[in-house]
Amino acid sequence: MTVHGQYPLTRLRRLRKQVFTRNLVQETRLSAQNLIAPFFVQEGKNKITPIASMPGIARYTMDKLLEVARDCHAKGIPAIALFPVIPLEQKSLTAEEAFNPEGLIPRTVRLLKQHIPTLGIICDVALDPYTSHGQDGIIDNTGHVLNDETVAALVKQALTQASSGADILAPSDMMDGRILAIRTALEAHHFYDTCLLSYAVKYASHFYGPFREAVGAKTLLGKADKKTYQMDPANAEEALREVALDLQEGADIVMVKPGIPYLDILWRVKQAFQVPTFAYQVSGEYSMLQTAVNNGCLPPEAILESLICLRRGGADAIITYFAHWLVSEGCVN
Ligand code: PBG
Repeated sequence: MTVHGQYPLTRLRRLRKQVFTRNLVQETRLSAQNLIAPFFVQEGKNKITPIASMPGIARYTMDKLLEVARDCHAKGIPAIALFPVIPLEQKSLTAEEAFNPEGLIPRTVRLLKQHIPTLGIICDVALDPYTSHGQDGIIDNTGHVLNDETVAALVKQALTQASSGADILAPSDMMDGRILAIRTALEAHHFYDTCLLSYAVKYASHFYGPFREAVGAKTLLGKADKKTYQMDPANAEEALREVALDLQEGADIVMVKPGIPYLDILWRVKQAFQVPTFAYQVSGEYSMLQTAVNNGCLPPEAILESLICLRRGGADAIITYFAHWLVSEGCVN
């Protein structure tokens, strides 16, 4: 560390006085290029259905999603992440709909890739939108999520998504060994260039509540939780073990989730591994900020602040529900 002179030789306020010097010495930047826009996709045509717990966010039918995805692409967002709203009658105990090649996600990916080939498409690899119980995996008769049975289903889901043209597969299920199993299957099926964005560090967080409502898993999950596979919010060293394993197993990018409450984890992961590291500013974080802004309790600039803090904390890119709004308003470019 360089030793600087003391006051009055050093006045740190000199560089803060004018906008131009503040800009020149700014250490971290946020651009549209750092953002990934998540979208909820539903069956049907010409429908945009608001989500009560996420003011300003909606479920889109494929045709409407194509319009908003075009706009994201035109405004510099490199990629979007897709989350399906599966009709109740297609959900089942073992989530077969997750690997239906004619399912909602494969059809959506094909449509997007046909019309906007250079927009990156990220698919969530997890069973929760497809299970009748809302868990991310296949359960035994006590309700326990079975690891290896679930991994086998995830492999089928991943191959279905890769076949439909998805660029990046993002396993968000937290089963052990799923990255290796998916990577091995992708190689065997000649999907050499499909990227794996591992939700390596995913906490059992209450901040996912609005998302579960959005995909229709909340009431199905009921009072059950995901603590036998998602991480304890009290743990940090365990996060480094998760990342180390996923990198060994063939992940290209790792992610920490949620975002702001877990900045220390993000920082430790980035410092320890120096690999591409993303953060997910989750639904609950979105709803807190957006509600406060809507009520006039916070200025909208608080949103940008939350995102620059994630960048400073080590995130190369951020999945955020604010992405489309930020580029539409010209807050970032
Ligand atoms: C599914 C999944 C979840 C989120 C992303 N993928 C929910 C969960 O694990 O319960 C949460 C995203 C958000 O809250 O915005 N496995």
